[in-house]
Amino acid sequence: MKVLVTGGTGFIGSHVCVELIQAGHDVVVIDDFSNSKPAVLGYIKEITGKEVKFYEQNVLDEQKTEKVFQENDLDSIIHCAAFKAVGESMVKPIEYYTNNLMSTLVIAKLMKKYKVNNIVFSSSATVYGDPEIVPLTEDSKLGETTNPYGSTKAMMERILTDVQRAVPSMSVTLLRYFNPIGAHESGLLGEDPKGIPNNLMPYIMKVAAGQLECLGVFGNDYDTPDGTGVRDYIHVVDLARGHVAAIEKYATPGVHICNLGTGKGFSVLELVEAFKRVNNIDVPYVIKERRPGDIATCYADPTRAKEQLGWVAEKGIDDMCRDSWNFAKKNFK
Ligand code: UFG
Repeated sequence: MKVLVTGGTGFIGSHVCVELIQAGHDVVVIDDFSNSKPAVLGYIKEITGKEVKFYEQNVLDEQKTEKVFQENDLDSIIHCAAFKAVGESMVKPIEYYTNNLMSTLVIAKLMKKYKVNNIVFSSSATVYGDPEIVPLTEDSKLGETTNPYGSTKAMMERILTDVQRAVPSMSVTLLRYFNPIGAHESGLLGEDPKGIPNNLMPYIMKVAAGQLECLGVFGNDYDTPDGTGVRDYIHVVDLARGHVAAIEKYATPGVHICNLGTGKGFSVLELVEAFKRVNNIDVPYVIKERRPGDIATCYADPTRAKEQLGWVAEKGIDDMCRDSWNFAKKNFK
């Protein structure tokens, strides 16, 4: 298949490109490098021996994006391009709604016009809000989102669902990611956020690398075994393979919703301890106040992915910690 990956040089998109190429697909990428680097394109080639066809632009630029559709006979789209920082979205809601929603509308419009019938969308477990029951299945109630970023994910799911209703030949897949961490085992691709990281693993990596002094653990009085937040961390390579399975298996008309998680929850302190043990490095931390908007526990029921996609997460927490640190050692300067 010829697959357009929007946001294809980002943390998740770059791993998706590698897995697509390795599964024999042709890859076209749109990215504006707003949260990634041009060097990633070279790394994808170094890993796979193949080049992606690249367009440097924002998906929002409809004229340019239309050209990509005209110049390439696309079979499928994997739509990863979006702003994704929860905290930033609170101070820049207009930018978040504009960028995330409008780019999805541009893609949907062009898919209809050029009869590209298959889209896989990067959604998030954030659409479940504060879960009443865990593990979360795809039939769990959708919850209230607590920030504009999360709201854009919920709205983009809705937009694509409505588009599918109007264009019944379309296949819309909503992949709800849990907490992607880890890096490519080569150490070439991984997550290198600009500035001070919001998410736990990048923060741990920066503390271990000596770039930040100490991790703040946001609350130890949650109703969890050790009081710290529990999440379903998933290796980004497993996550990327889930996308390949989804474009191949969900290519039938309809709206397909699928969680991508491991089904296992780890607390903040468990992740910190695993990182220290696996990499034999210290990660000093202090307990801080709870972070507003955080929930106690969130993990997936990954049964549907196994049954419908034949996909299960293969990598464990030790792999995630090892590969994250391998990437940090090579790239954090
Ligand atoms: N945490 C800390 N210290 C930090 C950062 C995080 O203790 O410096 C804790 C959080 O309180 C939480 C856990 O680590 O308990 C995980 O936090 P992350 O910020 O890494 O991830 P979240 O679960 O908050 O958010 C992630 C994605 C969002 C997505 C959300 C729900 O980053 O994009 O999952 O699916 F919306």
